Amino acid sequence: MTKSAQPIFPHGPKKVEGYHEYLADQLQPVGSLLNPEEYKQNQDPPALFKPLTIRGVEFPNRAWVAPMCQYSSEDGKASDHHLVHLGSMAMRGWGSIMVEATAVVPEGRITPEDMGLWEDAQIAPLKRVVDYVHGLRGIIGIQLAHAGRKASTPAPWTLRQVIEDEGYQGGTVVGEENGGWPNNVQAPSAISFNEGKFPNPVEASAEYIENLKKAFLEAVERCEKIGFDFIEIHGAHGYLLHEFVDPISNKRTDSYGGSLENRLRLPLELAQLIREKWDKPLFYRLSATDWLEEDLGPEKSANGDYAWWGIEQTTILTQKLADLGVDLIDVSSGGNDLRQKVKVGPSYQLPFAEHVKQHVKNILVGSVGIITEPEQANDIIEQGKSDVVFLAREVLRNIDFPLKAALELGAAVSPAVQYERAWTRMLVKRDHVKEAAHKHGLTEVQGEEGKKIKGETVTVNGNGNSNTIGKRGPPPVVHSSVP
Ligand SMILES: Cc1cc2nc3c(=O)[nH]c(=O)nc-3n(C[C@H](O)[C@H](O)[C@H](O)COP(=O)(O)O)c2cc1C
Repeated sequence: MTKSAQPIFPHGPKKVEGYHEYLADQLQPVGSLLNPEEYKQNQDPPALFKPLTIRGVEFPNRAWVAPMCQYSSEDGKASDHHLVHLGSMAMRGWGSIMVEATAVVPEGRITPEDMGLWEDAQIAPLKRVVDYVHGLRGIIGIQLAHAGRKASTPAPWTLRQVIEDEGYQGGTVVGEENGGWPNNVQAPSAISFNEGKFPNPVEASAEYIENLKKAFLEAVERCEKIGFDFIEIHGAHGYLLHEFVDPISNKRTDSYGGSLENRLRLPLELAQLIREKWDKPLFYRLSATDWLEEDLGPEKSANGDYAWWGIEQTTILTQKLADLGVDLIDVSSGGNDLRQKVKVGPSYQLPFAEHVKQHVKNILVGSVGIITEPEQANDIIEQGKSDVVFLAREVLRNIDFPLKAALELGAAVSPAVQYERAWTRMLVKRDHVKEAAHKHGLTEVQGEEGKKIKGETVTVNGNGNSNTIGKRGPPPVVHSSVP
């Protein structure tokens, strides 16, 4: 008996060219809308899944990851931790990923374990992360930062551990013996954030400020080499640039202190210098308010002076940043004064973003702060209150938020090719627009997912390919050192 010729499949896999090893091509960005001709529910998609293009960079959706310090670097370098942490976000369909606050000078770190970009040796480890995210067709930027008077302090868990273990109640300044720089903590004025606990900063000299501008520009050059898609300047949370704009922490008598114009000088100079050098998207994160009304009365005193930093000055700063060509304002709040009374709750910072959006027309606006639900996120954008939403803690709890949101809002977006089989419920082709999956009577056990409840062998889509699932071998051997 002669056998017929084998039915050879005449194609190889699509791979990411130029990547240092085999990496499957994602075919289209993870989290981007699937073809609306096929998935008719995408013809009028939820606002959260409408792509956004800024200076030629296409963000596939509006659910963006906020910057989150990991305190997991040695000498400011990205590590395996960052590859997994940020890489797994790229596998989950976030519209944008942002590397944590990254110091442009060593003394601009919050903790000795912060990420940094003050020297060329820090380029390659970050590029590895960025190359991987780009290999997955993801968008990734970085937040450039200086911690100001909150520098040289310990990571939260380092502090908590000694508080829990030893009932420690002392100061929280990291000394030189643990990699800190207690005598080189820089601020606009020599005013501690928390006298007796936090560092006693020195007043940054005019020379320090000039060198800082150079350091920012050098970091921007490194961002260029790494291939980041965007840069965010960190001007929030009581760190250096917030300290400069805020009359609470800035008591300088030179051209960087006193009047509002002077207090805004440093962030505006930086934004301008960076804008001239960097032609990709540029964002600025600010704290819209110190939340001090209850303690100090109105932001502007009766005599016309500003008593603390609030939404009026925020709006003025945003307008000036917009006029300099900053593309997006990321509206956060608080962090510069211990007396702050933050009114926390779902979307608690949205009113500030909305205010800025209403008053400054030539800038995109991002909102952040307890945005955890798909409908909540979608409504914010659909109602024009901001253009994108940033999520932080929800990313850590629920990394699949974008795809789950698509499912809940009734859109069909591209899952990572390797994870497709987990998203069959979302990938149902529907005629209806914005109909949530549950309205179609789909349940967890339908489709392919239903078949794997008992058996270990399933037939996928009736195409003859048999896949074994459920059988698991022993755990892999992990070699703790590279041979
Ligand atoms: C672990 C962690 C680290 C953070 N690190 C940064 C940071 O590097 N830069 C920054 O601007 N905000 C940082 N934040 C604040 C978040 O970006 C975000 O503004 C805040 O958590 C509120 O959003 P959420 O309610 O979605 O968590 C951090 C928050 C968390 C939870």
